[in-house]
Amino acid sequence: MMNAYLSRRAFFARVLRYSSAAALAMSFGFEASARCRGKVQSTALLYATRYGATKETARWVRKGMDTPADVLDIERVSIPEVLAGYDRFIVGSGIWIKGAHPKVLEFFQTGRDTLQERLLGTFIVCGSADGSETGKELVEHYLHLMHAPLSARPPLSRAFGGRLVVGRLSDGDREKLAAFYRNYLNQELRDWDLTDSGKANVFGNEIEDILARTPAAPLQKAG
Ligand SMILES: Cc1cc2nc3c(=O)[nH]c(=O)nc-3n(C[C@H](O)[C@H](O)[C@H](O)COP(=O)(O)O)c2cc1C
Repeated sequence: MMNAYLSRRAFFARVLRYSSAAALAMSFGFEASARCRGKVQSTALLYATRYGATKETARWVRKGMDTPADVLDIERVSIPEVLAGYDRFIVGSGIWIKGAHPKVLEFFQTGRDTLQERLLGTFIVCGSADGSETGKELVEHYLHLMHAPLSARPPLSRAFGGRLVVGRLSDGDREKLAAFYRNYLNQELRDWDLTDSGKANVFGNEIEDILARTPAAPLQKAG
């Protein structure tokens, strides 16, 4: 029988093949007003989550930073308002088969020109951040897809382990994943947890180093 580690690797190797040709255009949900403060030298740490691990990771990243940053759910903000209201950004997204959250891609596309000097770092939260060679390839693939709308890669990017709690999945996600596990891995869908607060704290420290080295860019209006 395969151990859990190999199973996960095999799972995500399959996912890569399964999703590599898939279009990233997906419908996305509601927008609420941004909690923008409109002051200069403010930092927004935006996250996109379905089941909470990315939100938790964003908070751990924030804890590792000294500079104040507003931690914002990207689903609840207006992209133009956030781009106009903050001058530095860190963006994190969970990964769900087709890649990062569509609103993260929209944020990068909308801010393509202005983000070049204002995006300090990005991170993804997924099942592939297990240090294996297959996992590293998948992580590069997901980061590549996420950064595609940008004109330049951010100075810092990282992949963190996420988690899967079967009992919390939506019916649609559970059915899709259960079929995937059954058909490709020949096993039942099960819980796993790769989250690590310490690694996220360290990333926050590294972001802080970039902030210290980078003279603040002037606040620009989103184009
Ligand atoms: C429907 C679904 C699809 C997923 N697909 C992938 C995937 O393709 N690659 C991967 O590395 N992890 C995948 N995962 C694992 C998630 O990245 C992990 O559960 C992460 O914690 C999700 O972030 P969230 O908890 O903030 O929603 C998937 C999880 C779900 C529920």
